[in-house]
Amino acid sequence: MDLPLAPAIRRTLHDAIEQGLTGYLPPAAQQAAERAAAAWQHRRYGWAVDPADVHLTTSVLRALQVMLDHLTPPGTPVVLPVPAYMPFLDVPALAGRELRTVPMTHTADGAITFDLDAIAAALVPGAVLVLTNPHNPTGRVFTAAELRAVADVVDAAGALVFADEIHAPVVFDGRRHVPYATVSDRAAEHTVTGTSASKGWNIAGLGCAQLIVSGAAMRERWATVPFLVQHGVGPLGALATAAAYDEGQAHLDATVGYLQRGRDLFVRRLAEVVPTVPVAPIEGTYLAWVDLRSVDRSVADLQAAARVRGVDGQACGAPGFLRLNLALPHPLVGELADRLGRAIDA
Ligand SMILES: Cc1ncc(COP(=O)(O)O)c(C=O)c1O
Repeated sequence: MDLPLAPAIRRTLHDAIEQGLTGYLPPAAQQAAERAAAAWQHRRYGWAVDPADVHLTTSVLRALQVMLDHLTPPGTPVVLPVPAYMPFLDVPALAGRELRTVPMTHTADGAITFDLDAIAAALVPGAVLVLTNPHNPTGRVFTAAELRAVADVVDAAGALVFADEIHAPVVFDGRRHVPYATVSDRAAEHTVTGTSASKGWNIAGLGCAQLIVSGAAMRERWATVPFLVQHGVGPLGALATAAAYDEGQAHLDATVGYLQRGRDLFVRRLAEVVPTVPVAPIEGTYLAWVDLRSVDRSVADLQAAARVRGVDGQACGAPGFLRLNLALPHPLVGELADRLGRAIDA
């Protein structure tokens, strides 16, 4: 994200450096982050999380690895709706798991959603469904009804969910993020949630995410997890996380407003040049998912011609699309749209 850091985080980091907090994670910083993360879930999304159920990891990807290595039956497959955040196509193999991708589908009014039949067909008892909401790369923010329908399918299969909610703070147009674990008691039981302040407040480089357990069985399994899985989280990440959740709400709301106006600018400017190129409605995240399948050039060629760099949809499991990051100052968002539009139109 190429936008200013929240003043509270900047201040916290300066203070931490002045205090020489560059060693291992002090318990007070760890507890501050866990307590702040739990309080944020409650305040922002209405999810009553016990701080004792919040566990710090260096990243959300690490949280998924921890779930696969320590919290789920060995050898079960990972089911991944595609398009997906690129590393999710690789992490299962690193954990020695089979990856089963299932294509996403469209609702009657054209929104991208889950193909429940395909998910049901891919799930087996103990399988892990990776559910990203808000969704990278499409920008969808799933409704409680959609999530409940997924939970029913998962429950019927005796499967589990890794709920990646890293983009939860960034939702647009007055939407409210619904934590998957809150949609039913059964969902809470079968879920491990991975989240972080890293997207909303741009602190991914500080290496602090949260793994949240919400069911009795997971809590029991967590008790057997070796300490090493939390190793590597440092004081700067933990303190910045606590500052973000405790003191960063106004900054976040301003950032989300700015990102929403940037989204509108991008969509308008691209449509002015190439009105027939569809962009999936961006309900949250700061990603644009541009459908270039009707364009007679490769996604790589178009990026080179436009001199822009995004992610080729192929890497997300969906060739013919381009994923762009819009967390930029508005003049650059406009230029991005203009350059891409001109390259498509050439
Ligand atoms: C949906 C999603 N999950 C996970 C990640 C990676 O997060 P982390 O660096 O905490 O592993 C990203 C980063 O872009 C993401 O968009």
